[in-house]
Amino acid sequence: MSTAKLLAPILSFLQCETPDEWVDEAVKKENLSIILIDHLICELKAAQSAMFLIRKYAIDKESSDALLAWLKPFETLIYNREGDWRDLPSKNNLTKAVIPKSGSKYGQDLIDKMVMLIKEELHHFYQVLEIMNEYGIEYKSITPCRYAKGMLRHVKTFEPDAMIDKLIVGAYIEARSCERFAKLAPHVDKRLGDFYISLLRSEARHYQDYLALATEISGCDITERIKFFSKIEAELIQSPDTDFKFHSGIPVKN
Ligand SMILES: [Fe+2]
Ligand SMILES: [Fe+2]
Repeated sequence: MSTAKLLAPILSFLQCETPDEWVDEAVKKENLSIILIDHLICELKAAQSAMFLIRKYAIDKESSDALLAWLKPFETLIYNREGDWRDLPSKNNLTKAVIPKSGSKYGQDLIDKMVMLIKEELHHFYQVLEIMNEYGIEYKSITPCRYAKGMLRHVKTFEPDAMIDKLIVGAYIEARSCERFAKLAPHVDKRLGDFYISLLRSEARHYQDYLALATEISGCDITERIKFFSKIEAELIQSPDTDFKFHSGIPVKN
């Protein structure tokens, strides 16, 4: 599928495109390290939040422990700076079948989609490390930007609405990432541009998976709720932001 075809549903899902001011800032050489480090963290967060969703809502204790063990070497690398990133591909394996907990109304479908998503995000995480290594960029810890928090604070506090809201927010984060990779690709060197384009396919599917799951779980029309989050998302993207990151708003100086 062509890039334009992949992007078409994403562009209609998002209320606005990334402003040129953000793209101009993001392609500056001096910002490459912040973009890649933030991207790296986003991949880990994507894996973590998908894992959080199935651990909280869908699976038994034993499966939950297996999931945590899977994520551990990736987290240890970032949070404890331990381990060799080159070993990660051999650790991106779930050794056990993950099964729904008894009485869970969330079925195998949610679990299978999320497990697949986690595996892909962890693979992306490794790929970003590989690129950082090639470009001589050292990991350093950075603070998260306002973007995800800005949406998550509107998540309802009761179930199943909270779960549905989190899935919608997940869909927006995936869709925006996808749109930004496509925006950046023509302006960066070939190695990085090819990598960004290679990410489009899976991130486009991730956004659709989140959305399909939200619809499936709610069992009713969630159009209004999607519209609600689309406005919040667009506001975060289109308003001035002093903290330049992968998902930040219009860059302004402090
Ligand atoms: Fe990803
Ligand atoms: Fe993703």
